[in-house]
Amino acid sequence: MALFKSKPKDSGIDLSELNLPVHIGIIMDGNGRWAKKRGLPRSAGHTAGAQVFRKITRYCSNIGIKYLTVYAFSTENWTRPSDEVSALLRLFKSYLQEALDDFRDDSIVVKFIGDRSAFPKELIELMDDNEAISKDRDGMVLNIAMNYGGRDEIVRAVKEISQLATSDDISIEEINDQLISDHLYTRGQPDPDLIIRPSGEHRTSNFLLWQSAYAEYVIMDILWPDFKESDLDRAIVEYSKRSRRFGGV
Ligand code: IPE
Ligand code: IPE
Ligand code: MG
Repeated sequence: MALFKSKPKDSGIDLSELNLPVHIGIIMDGNGRWAKKRGLPRSAGHTAGAQVFRKITRYCSNIGIKYLTVYAFSTENWTRPSDEVSALLRLFKSYLQEALDDFRDDSIVVKFIGDRSAFPKELIELMDDNEAISKDRDGMVLNIAMNYGGRDEIVRAVKEISQLATSDDISIEEINDQLISDHLYTRGQPDPDLIIRPSGEHRTSNFLLWQSAYAEYVIMDILWPDFKESDLDRAIVEYSKRSRRFGGV
């Protein structure tokens, strides 16, 4: 039975009797639609979404989630209009400056998954600093997926493993599931149990393709900037009702 550090704030749902997911993934989607509904620029939706990210991250840590992976920017999101991409990069920069202090009290370990080399130098430095400052903490691991794509991640793993095989460091027979997992950004971490997609879209959009083989997906008809702690509770309740068989009976 999972132990909870605190009770849910506003849902009235008591999670303490439920089987908690160890690793939750969230596709933080719907910022643009949220802004459009209010007659605001899409960037206003991203700003509102960043606040929700902070709130939900802290909440996950408080209820005892061990790993949280959030999808912030995909390898395909570069195809958006350049003013939207620029606004997102500015938001990441100001957010990551604050984040250096933000998660200290919660002992959260911050990691970035994805190809950071595509970002401006000052953003890469902030990502490196956030990782360095938090690496010895003992709380929840927060993976922030930035310039992340599941296919890109697998291609990188294939290249690394091919190098090892070509230089005779491993034999072809040694290539197995575990070896591939060990060459992904999430190496050493358990696969996600629950993946939540707000905004109602029924697709992975290239998120954790390999790792989500047996993840339970919960699609929610709510836009990310409107997402509340009680919505996370509802997703966990839904997850706890699922029968996970992993191909068995
Ligand atoms: C998710 O919200 C944020 C990013 C992909 C960076 P969207 O910007 O995709 O919002 P919608 O889906 O257009 O509403
Ligand atoms: C997925 O959302 C990426 C992030 C939330 C960062 P998208 O909005 O990019 O996905 P599609 O275009 O709806 O598939
Ligand atoms: Mg979207």
